[in-house]
Amino acid sequence: MIIIKSLKEIELMREGGKILAEIMERLGKAVFPGNNTFEINKLAKELILKAKGTPIFEGYGDKKNPYPAAVCISVNNEIVHGIPRKEKILEIGDIVKLDIGILYKGMITDMARTYPVGKISSEAQKLIETTREALNVGIKIIKAGTKLNDYGRVVEKHAKLNGFSVVYDLVGHGVGKKLHEDPFIPNYPAKHVESVFKEKMTVALEPMINAGTRYIKLMPDGWTYATKDGKLSAHFEDTIVVKKNGVEILTRI
Ligand code: MF3
Ligand code: CO
Repeated sequence: MIIIKSLKEIELMREGGKILAEIMERLGKAVFPGNNTFEINKLAKELILKAKGTPIFEGYGDKKNPYPAAVCISVNNEIVHGIPRKEKILEIGDIVKLDIGILYKGMITDMARTYPVGKISSEAQKLIETTREALNVGIKIIKAGTKLNDYGRVVEKHAKLNGFSVVYDLVGHGVGKKLHEDPFIPNYPAKHVESVFKEKMTVALEPMINAGTRYIKLMPDGWTYATKDGKLSAHFEDTIVVKKNGVEILTRI
């Protein structure tokens, strides 16, 4: 069931989204050679609590193997849901995906960015730029009444045009009262998807784009998804609210 938000709820997500975007900007500065992903998570948690938010990813999922951190940190071939670790030390040339969700005044916002560590290859740079652009071209066509599949079509087209592939097995989602609400939003046109974006729907759009094939594998930790062929992957995510004539991006400063 799609949950349409009230103006009050949207206002709270606007506040929370801005805080989240500010936290992300600070964390981006912690992505440097020699730092480890455990430290970045520690900083993320401190910043979230200081802003009077709650790290919504911590404890998420199955009771037997809940997600253990405030921020998902995925490096290079890891696509999403990487787990921060002291041993994971960033090196020049790496690309790092940070994905955070916070609960603020009862509402959830969710965002992700991909950062370079020092100087990276031109292929990696192009992958990051293409993924950022793919999210933006997708966002540009959305207004009340736009088909979910039209969003997916322009995102995938942009990836393919640049020689990359879109991950099919992980998708965007409604967000706000819960981290994952209906509808699920593929970053490609999917046969079974018929719904349209509706006014005052709040959704997290999150293309994951691979340098090689679109196929993914789940790592033994039960959380980290990586590319099947070991090649690079990039990820950008924003929480938006759908309006009559366009959208408002909630997770930008
Ligand atoms: N933004 C991601 C998603 O929407 C991260 C959530 S997974 C979690 O799937 F376990 F870390 F919460
Ligand atoms: Co998400």
